[in-house]
Amino acid sequence: MNSYEGKSFNVITYGCQMNVHESEKIRGILASLGMLEIDDAEKADVVVFNTCCIREGAEDRAYNNIMALRNSKKLNPNKVLVMCGCMPQQKNGKYNLKEKLPFVDIIIGTYNINQLAQYLLMFAVKHKQIIEIVNRATGNMDSGYCIRDDKINAYVNIIYGCNKFCTYCIVPYVRGREISRPMADIYNEVKNLVQNEGYKYITLLGQNVNSYGKDLKEQTTFAELLTELCQIEGDFKIKFMTSHPMDFGDDLIKVMKKENKVAKALHLPVQSGSSRILAKMNRHYDIKHYMSIIKKVKHAIPNISLSTDIIVGFPGETEKDFNKTLKLLKKVKYDQVFAFMYSKRTGTPAAEFEEQIDEKEKNLRVNKLLRLQKIIQKEQTKKFFKKTFDCLIQQINGVAVGITDGGKEIYIPNYKFVNQNYFAKVKVEEIRNHKLSGVINER
Ligand code: 5AD
Ligand code: SF4
Repeated sequence: MNSYEGKSFNVITYGCQMNVHESEKIRGILASLGMLEIDDAEKADVVVFNTCCIREGAEDRAYNNIMALRNSKKLNPNKVLVMCGCMPQQKNGKYNLKEKLPFVDIIIGTYNINQLAQYLLMFAVKHKQIIEIVNRATGNMDSGYCIRDDKINAYVNIIYGCNKFCTYCIVPYVRGREISRPMADIYNEVKNLVQNEGYKYITLLGQNVNSYGKDLKEQTTFAELLTELCQIEGDFKIKFMTSHPMDFGDDLIKVMKKENKVAKALHLPVQSGSSRILAKMNRHYDIKHYMSIIKKVKHAIPNISLSTDIIVGFPGETEKDFNKTLKLLKKVKYDQVFAFMYSKRTGTPAAEFEEQIDEKEKNLRVNKLLRLQKIIQKEQTKKFFKKTFDCLIQQINGVAVGITDGGKEIYIPNYKFVNQNYFAKVKVEEIRNHKLSGVINER
């Protein structure tokens, strides 16, 4: 029996898939203390804010929301507030958390989330604010606890941290250097998720998955990891994110093409269509190199679904540079583009660069880019006509739907639905108002 048993908790997550998955681990830790999850932060006895600091907006959201909970502490004096993740890990963040958040009981960073149970138990005894930010991983990054929300797609960590130091990015400062998880641990986790828990998609996570294995005693590669995982028996597919173009080799394209279990979808952030800006971003590739990868990937896997990240308004980005990004979008024809306005991050080199672009201009540019992408995406639907995709069959509002690896829905009218969540080939027969419908062929 501990002082948290039977109490309620709520976890609020900001940021990327890495954080989403970390929150799943936090929920596991809290449940292991005998606590029950509820979805009301006002009412919950313990509220955890798992924060992000990749852009200013993410910081503002978490800060304002935690401030808004301040009063609920008066109604429930035993309420415990926890802030963890990237925001506290930042050295000179926008908010001085120590000063501004005296009512937050536990403030920890990215490296000690797995010890949350100990911090909570310590707080229950001492009732004094705990602020503990450590600067490197202490022991295993995995607590072993995890409660996944999604029952179809499971996130699995393969590598933590980033060694790239793109000049705009705060990640290497808050997540540290690359640490790969041993292959056997990943293999066992994936095997269990597929064979015992029935997961259909496994998404391998890392800031830069293509660096996987370089730091391990028994050096290996991401392509080798994928090949190993594809040996696991079962009806499932593997996705991964995020890839860095610099480390994206031909060996990986080969595995993606060869292995049926590797999803035919690729998220390959380009960040800018201008080689001049890419150099200032310290991305270690130019557009010629990026396009050569895209060409090879499209050639090897013609129906692959492509997506990317773009930063608009990086310091010094001229109209000419920006137009090159628009040109790139027209050329590659991504299925999805995630576009962000450049956000100055204290402590990163680009924050000190001259020629910062004003917010209004960034806004105009990002909207222009998104408008263009919307048109491209609509046109892209045509490419699905008469093509066949390996889809996960699901029932949505009583109708059978095939979901492609890229997340596109293909309606299957007149299909006698027996069960769901299995893979089958679906051929697109009709496109109406950009909506796809087709027929099913069992695999
Ligand atoms: N400003 C805007 N976007 C950023 N990203 C990373 N750092 C910044 C920043 N300072 C974007 C990149 C990255 C994605 C996860 O977030 O596009 O790929
Ligand atoms: Fe940030 Fe660049 Fe690392 Fe991605 S690769 S996490 S953008 S530093």
